[in-house]
Amino acid sequence: MNYRKLGKSGYDVSEIGIGCWQLGGDFGPVDDNRANQILRAADDNQINFWDTADVYGAGLSEQRIGNYTRSNPEPRFIATKVGRDGQLFPNGYTKAKVKANLAGSVKRLGVEALDLAQLHCVPTDVLKAGDLLAWMEDFQQEGLIKHFGVSVETMDEALFAVKHPKLTSIQTIFNLFRQDQATELFPAAQENNVGIIVRLPLASGVLSGKMTKSQTFAETDHRNYNKDGAAFSVGETFSGIPFTTAVDLADELKTMAPKDMTLVQLAMRWILDHPAVSTVITGASKPEQVKENVAVSALPPLSSELHEALKQFYFNKVKQHVRGVM
Ligand SMILES: NC(=O)c1ccc[n+]([C@@H]2O[C@H](COP(=O)([O-])OP(=O)(O)OC[C@H]3O[C@@H](n4cnc5c(N)ncnc54)[C@H](OP(=O)(O)O)[C@@H]3O)[C@@H](O)[C@H]2O)c1
Repeated sequence: MNYRKLGKSGYDVSEIGIGCWQLGGDFGPVDDNRANQILRAADDNQINFWDTADVYGAGLSEQRIGNYTRSNPEPRFIATKVGRDGQLFPNGYTKAKVKANLAGSVKRLGVEALDLAQLHCVPTDVLKAGDLLAWMEDFQQEGLIKHFGVSVETMDEALFAVKHPKLTSIQTIFNLFRQDQATELFPAAQENNVGIIVRLPLASGVLSGKMTKSQTFAETDHRNYNKDGAAFSVGETFSGIPFTTAVDLADELKTMAPKDMTLVQLAMRWILDHPAVSTVITGASKPEQVKENVAVSALPPLSSELHEALKQFYFNKVKQHVRGVM
């Protein structure tokens, strides 16, 4: 495993992290045993950066992480998020309520202070008003959080937040189906020493190349109930591409992979080849996936010809289909 600096935090984070949304049940049912196996696989494969949120399974993801880490104490960085709980989102934000939610995360995770608290896709106008970021500075001073960042949905939000002098990181969607950040955000992030946390590296799994158009998902899986944005931003499910189109595009990408390289490897290696990226928080439904994803850290970079071909593929065939980008 290779490690990279996470912005101003100074943390050396594993370039492959683990996303823990699935531990709350939003990718279909996950029992305690499976949750523990996934977290154990993260530890066994030297992943030291874990990402969760207070709302994943209404606290269940954080609770499971807390239960696991209490019995398996090891040095790691656990990032969580605040701002999407129904008491706050979209316009109920007060300093006291945000602080209470962060305190809830501290309790569930079983830590003294949060390593990284991220504003969780709060509305653009709320982010830009600046109060939330000022409160995060205060919470950092008070010792409730060690560092803060933002998780964003739009380039506009990212380009606003990146200039904040105390911001440690920006979490953004970035994958073969969403490439604009490479030119529009990453230079500014590097200039401002802001770490980039990449979510949806596999576009909710479709960029693994394993899905078929007739595939169905569990009722409680967002890939069923949010595939067209019925519950939250459509961009968070399959990266905003209509599912059957995404399957076709993934099938075409398979043909572009070098011999002996899987689509998972191509998709993840392509992300890691961007030096602005600090860590890629891939989700996993099974421990075997964690192992497979971590192995990408040891692969050599893709050729510049392949990078160029993948860029052309995005601009010519993908970008027109992406929904949920403002
Ligand atoms: N707004 C936000 O801040 C926000 C929004 C979304 C996500 N996130 C964070 O980002 C993390 C990652 O995003 P994500 O889980 O939505 O998307 P993702 O990482 O692109 O997709 C994860 C899914 O891909 C499949 N997968 C993973 N590794 C695989 C492998 N080696 N081979 C085949 N399939 C594989 C699994 O699906 P199967 O179930 O099909 O096996 C897994 O559940 C989340 O856990 C969360 O921490 C944050």
